[in-house]
Amino acid sequence: MAPDVLAADDSGIARAAAALQRGELVAFPTETVYGLGADAWNPAAVAAIFAAKGRPSTHPLIVHVASIEGARAVCTEFSPLAEALARAFWPGPLTLVLPAHPDLPRAVTAGGATVGVRIPSDPTALALLRAFGGPLAAPSANRHQEVSPTRAAHVVRSLGARIPFVLDGGPCTSGIESTVLSLVTRQILRPGPIAPQALRAFVPDLVVTEGLTAHVGIHAAPGLSSRHYAPRATLTVVHPADLAEAWRAADRENTVALLRQPNGAIPRHASRILGDEPQSYARELFAALSAADDDGATEILVEALPDGEAWWALRDRLGRASAAR
Ligand code: TXA
Ligand code: MG
Repeated sequence: MAPDVLAADDSGIARAAAALQRGELVAFPTETVYGLGADAWNPAAVAAIFAAKGRPSTHPLIVHVASIEGARAVCTEFSPLAEALARAFWPGPLTLVLPAHPDLPRAVTAGGATVGVRIPSDPTALALLRAFGGPLAAPSANRHQEVSPTRAAHVVRSLGARIPFVLDGGPCTSGIESTVLSLVTRQILRPGPIAPQALRAFVPDLVVTEGLTAHVGIHAAPGLSSRHYAPRATLTVVHPADLAEAWRAADRENTVALLRQPNGAIPRHASRILGDEPQSYARELFAALSAADDDGATEILVEALPDGEAWWALRDRLGRASAAR
């Protein structure tokens, strides 16, 4: 049995909102990746997210809201800095980690004192949040440690009959998960579409640590597990100068190359061109990893990305996708 795939029209959104009100799970599009949503105030509904994903209970969930008022309702403190960041970046791909309302289900916060909150910008996500009328806890809508879904079909393939509904809003426009910023420690916990430079205007003492590795315990970010976002194929990051050699040495029938721009050493049919700037690259990356799996590739060669903060979130995703099993 596959989930019901609902069109993102008034009737689909109404059915999805009604299912959420009954405590059921609904996968829905956001501008970053598809989320697996449940009523954030309903402990049984939130528990069902962990069961469907096979996710460890030590990983807290992001709460999605439709307004700053909605964000205030799940926090004990929404500081002037939170307010300024919200006004600058919401709706959008920035998750703020704030002091949590004590009545939130423990599963949302993983038993911690903080909660991650954001207003997504995807119109279907906003329409769903408004129709539902409350906060939605939602991790990415994939089985634990699989590639995050950027198309409804990816959700169906990863979660299948474990969930009743997927709201299909088309491809995600941003393509990688939100930047997670802790306003408790002023640290970026997960790099994402909002680059550090954009945040420094508001948080001059921003803590940026490239190559954060797994933190253990309730504040662990699942995005920090060393192996994450992983396709089935083996993924190897190759310096541009070494691509031709890597291609010669590869099992060429079963290898695909993810490139920023066409490379004469690698045939067009075996290449996927993701683009030469971070926004276009991010939009295509997870779909390209999923497509490699669909095509039965056993090896993925990825052209190494440039240094610098603008590509940080993407270097981070590639590093985790290539970590040893
Ligand atoms: O773009 C996104 O963030 C997507 C869409 C659906 O909104 N969601 C997403 O959720 O990627 P998930 O569960 O796959 O990743 C959530 C990230 C993790 O790194 C998690 O540890 C961190 O947010 N996080 C959530 N709540 C937190 C908290 N209270 N303290 C620290 N980190 C938190
Ligand atoms: Mg995830």
